[in-house]
Amino acid sequence: MSKKIYIETYGCQQNVSDSEKIAGMAKEIGYALCSDKEDADLIVYNTCAVRENAELKVYGNLGALKALKNKKPDLIIAVCGCMMQETSVADRIKRVYKHVDIVFGTHALHKFKELVHAAEQEHDFISDVENIDGEIHEGLPIIRGEGVCASVSIMYGCNNFCTYCIVPYVRGRERSRDKEDILAEVKDAVKNGYKEIMLLGQNVNSYGKGKDITFAELLEEVASVEGVERIRFMTSHPKDISEELLRVMSRHANICKQLHLPVQCGNNRVLKSMNRGYTREKYFGLINMARSYMPDITISTDIIVGFPGETTEEFEDTIDLLERVRYDTVFSFIYSKRAGTPAATMEDVISPEEKKSNFNRLLDVQNRICAEINDTYLNKICPVLVEGRSKTDPETLTGRTDGGKLVHFKGSDELIGKIIDVKITDPKTWSLMGEVYEQA
Ligand code: SAH
Ligand code: SF4
Ligand code: F3S
Repeated sequence: MSKKIYIETYGCQQNVSDSEKIAGMAKEIGYALCSDKEDADLIVYNTCAVRENAELKVYGNLGALKALKNKKPDLIIAVCGCMMQETSVADRIKRVYKHVDIVFGTHALHKFKELVHAAEQEHDFISDVENIDGEIHEGLPIIRGEGVCASVSIMYGCNNFCTYCIVPYVRGRERSRDKEDILAEVKDAVKNGYKEIMLLGQNVNSYGKGKDITFAELLEEVASVEGVERIRFMTSHPKDISEELLRVMSRHANICKQLHLPVQCGNNRVLKSMNRGYTREKYFGLINMARSYMPDITISTDIIVGFPGETTEEFEDTIDLLERVRYDTVFSFIYSKRAGTPAATMEDVISPEEKKSNFNRLLDVQNRICAEINDTYLNKICPVLVEGRSKTDPETLTGRTDGGKLVHFKGSDELIGKIIDVKITDPKTWSLMGEVYEQA
């Protein structure tokens, strides 16, 4: 009987992608994935450090594992990911969470098999949280999630040092994979039945620095791989986006007309204090340029409310920006202080209550805009890549439009993995209800 591994992933798609590599490496040493931690011989928590909430969740869930470890003393518990690259966190886990066997950081991912092997042999606490910058380890096995979409990292790390953000500290300096390695991974995913490729990086537009290739050129090559039906990518940083990229997107039918372009806020003083490297005017220019190449492009963004020093008057500029851009989706966050970042020592000028009320206003405005945009989809016929059965309603299939909008409709299993026409019959704020469209 093979041993079992249970993996819980917090954070962004980069972490999800790392967890797929952990699953791949675990298989090589005899661990099969399981979906219930009670059944596991090895539990891995892959953590995120981007906001305090994410960290608190990890601490809570980790505390709860103590009872399981008491019941099953041979259980191995490993904690990895971005939080482990913060020295204070790794120390705290060693000190307080004595039932944890292994901690390892993002730079030690490739050593997973050795670390588990060591824990199987001895009962000491094993730690590998060194901060080694700039390495890329190719050739790690991957067990991808079920479905039709495969994520492929094209670069790691970040050099931007936005003043609020912990990512550059926990993921290290920016480094790009070789084009050949990326294309080989894409071809392999297609061979294994994946239809959609998501290219991942913290700032994909700076892919290829020092390598004589731009992101737009890479994208064009991925689009030409036989069998790739759809390509998406994230995240694009507004300071580095090029007209060449928009041109390439508009030229290839299989590159989805969707752009995630985090703006963070709409006020120039705050943008400067965040070290974002663009003004709202430059950002509007980019949106106009993207829409001039692709009139139907869907655009999403990230917003931080309550950055230190932001007044409510400055926040009004963010609301104004939302009204002007009219995003399809907005991911909004209340600023969370991250120790060691420049913003952590900046002073607040408004109260937490005022931040919360600004945040709620932003949600109201954006919900209205989302609903208005989705209403325009009524009776439209959209090509949808069918991803699978809905988790909440087994009668229903779910899929996405080219622009990434979630669509629910009734249909048979043979449709899964195909791009089919769906007529939208009932648009909601967060998704679109529809029916399979058969031409008369
Ligand atoms: N590299 C991507 C985003 C990475 S983190 C980019 O530059 O867009 C994802 C999002 O988390 C960010 O866009 C930002 O909106 C949010 N975020 C990052 N640090 C944060 C913090 N300290 N508090 C609140 N939100 C934060
Ligand atoms: Fe963080 Fe800025 Fe880098 Fe994005 S670009 S990961 S927000 S530092
Ligand atoms: Fe979180 Fe690390 Fe991603 S901090 S957002 S999991 S890069």
